[in-house]
Amino acid sequence: MNIIFLGPPGAGKGTQSKRLEGRYGIAQISTGDMLRAEVAAGTEIGREAKGLMDAGKLIPDSVIVSMLESRIQQPDCAKGFILDGFPRTVAQAEALDDMLQRKNSKIDVVLVLNVDEEALADRISGRFSCSKCGTSYHDTFRPTAKPGVCDVCGSESFTRRPDDNRETVIARLASYRAETMPLLPYYEQHDLVVMIDGMAPIEEVSAQIDQVMKRIA
Ligand code: AP5
Repeated sequence: MNIIFLGPPGAGKGTQSKRLEGRYGIAQISTGDMLRAEVAAGTEIGREAKGLMDAGKLIPDSVIVSMLESRIQQPDCAKGFILDGFPRTVAQAEALDDMLQRKNSKIDVVLVLNVDEEALADRISGRFSCSKCGTSYHDTFRPTAKPGVCDVCGSESFTRRPDDNRETVIARLASYRAETMPLLPYYEQHDLVVMIDGMAPIEEVSAQIDQVMKRIA
């Protein structure tokens, strides 16, 4: 099964797609995480991406499409994948359709997380993640059970993303509106879109997604 999560920065794509990966055993692919790994490793792609990510701008389609194409050839994608943060432009969506057609495969559903823009800044500014295992938390909405200790691996070291600041969030939202929102009509014409109320608490959003999964699985 191949699933796409769409939604603005902070909508909950990572939170929900990671949960689905655990529940259904389908690989979760976050192009943002892949790019952050390239930045951390100091690769050529990482060096090019860093400035763009820090400015809230998109990485060129050609770079991201070839990264994604190699990623979906990996054995853990044999049963399908959950895309978090890709596609982000119509050109990326068209490239993905071509890749899947060559594999005799297709997208099964596009889950769109609807969240009011005013809520996004709060979500993004409160986000932090475990430096060791990457589990994502929120100061208010998803704190660790024991303050300062990761629930999953017990690490006491946490990080915040450099692009989670006010100016960059404004730029990321602008890019979402201009470049990613046109994907809605693109997927609506193929009858793939399911709207999810992303304003609900995390567990309720998960329950809405489980209902959709029951219908299509
Ligand atoms: P990326 O890493 O994909 O960032 P993003 O799309 O801006 O999304 P976020 O990761 O910020 O938010 P999310 O929706 O995953 O929310 P989360 O679940 O963490 O991309 C970063 C950059 O990389 C881009 O700006 C671009 O430069 C580049 N890039 C990546 N892909 C690209 C592509 N395809 N093409 C070109 N460039 C690309 O939730 C946020 C917080 O809210 C968390 O703390 C969470 O606990 C909390 N939360 C989640 N759900 C709820 C809820 N229902 N109620 C309350 N709190 C909640």
